[in-house]
Amino acid sequence: MSTPASLPAPRTPEPSQAPPLRWAISSTGGIAASMADAIRRHTRQELVAVGSRSQGSADRFAAAWDIPRAYEGIDAMLADDAVDIVYIASPHSQHHADAMAALHAGKHVLVEKAFTQDAEQAREVLDTARAANLIALEAMWTRFLPGTDVIRQLLEGGALGEVTTVLADHGQWFAPDPSHRLFAPGLAGGALLDLGVYPLSFADFALPGEERELAATGDLTDTGVDRQVSMTLRSGAAYATLSTTLAARTPTTASISGTLARVELEPDFYQPTRITLVPRDGESASYDGGTIRGHQAMAYEAAHLAQLVADGASESPLLPPSATLRVMELLDQARRDVGVVYPGEGDR
Ligand SMILES: NC(=O)c1ccc[n+]([C@@H]2O[C@H](COP(=O)([O-])OP(=O)(O)OC[C@H]3O[C@@H](n4cnc5c(N)ncnc54)[C@H](OP(=O)(O)O)[C@@H]3O)[C@@H](O)[C@H]2O)c1
Repeated sequence: MSTPASLPAPRTPEPSQAPPLRWAISSTGGIAASMADAIRRHTRQELVAVGSRSQGSADRFAAAWDIPRAYEGIDAMLADDAVDIVYIASPHSQHHADAMAALHAGKHVLVEKAFTQDAEQAREVLDTARAANLIALEAMWTRFLPGTDVIRQLLEGGALGEVTTVLADHGQWFAPDPSHRLFAPGLAGGALLDLGVYPLSFADFALPGEERELAATGDLTDTGVDRQVSMTLRSGAAYATLSTTLAARTPTTASISGTLARVELEPDFYQPTRITLVPRDGESASYDGGTIRGHQAMAYEAAHLAQLVADGASESPLLPPSATLRVMELLDQARRDVGVVYPGEGDR
């Protein structure tokens, strides 16, 4: 890892330093396996249980990741007293129910992004956690990475001057498949909640203050979820231009520009490793750090939550509930603008 003198060193602890807590994983899909791998390789966290809709899938996952107890159904898993934290890795439509069940069972939760399918659900989860003295943390892994801490210090220290312009995109190509969760309205599919949440959360992190004004335009898939969305987000005199799509592999870069300097994030910006500070006048400097790369860097968010729980903290200073809720409200606004309504939403 090399950190040029003109860029701050990340203050992020190594994930292996966090005290070990006992984790359960709820759901056995793709990202659940990535998290199990990250935890096993880079932390001292204990994986003690896994829950799935089917016993067979829970058993296979437990065998693959050497997890002692496998349960059919989240309720059986939540009855396990030897669980401190539940990592929720189900489709967006299921996050609220899973998180509420875990909180009612007295467990802290790390909930995959997008946190819930809408802001109303997010508010209920966050309020429930607060009332129970438990932490409900959004697994927006970007926030907890060393590269993000470098940018955080540049922003806090005023190195960029007054931020005026944020650019970020996240597009991936997916073969249209009505049976895939990304295309399924019933599973809260669409580009925004899966991919667009990254540029939106990044912009919320980079823009000053808490005032946010969003306008979005886009189109839908044949199944009725958002296929491609372009957004502008304003905070005072600062603007973010953001895009997301399920139909093309876009550059997935980001930048934050201010009156004194800009910072550029190379692909994929949401797991920043190479970050370049380009001053208005003078030499550029780059940060090439992050020894843990790709999805294994999810270890940072797990370790961060374990440390918060061990410290008796009520929320994360890196991604507080207010920021999670604000991003969910912005996602709601963007969906309204492009005309995406999930089944049952209008009835509440
Ligand atoms: N952080 C990241 O980089 C990242 C990357 C990809 C996805 N994600 C997020 O992680 C979550 C899961 O994504 P994924 O890609 O892992 O999805 P996935 O591979 O489709 O897995 C989702 C799992 O959820 C469970 N599930 C519960 N109810 C379901 C239903 N009605 N239909 C289908 N599955 C259901 C299933 O596990 P059981 O059969 O065991 O119940 C399924 O394997 C989403 O919130 C997504 O946005 C994050």
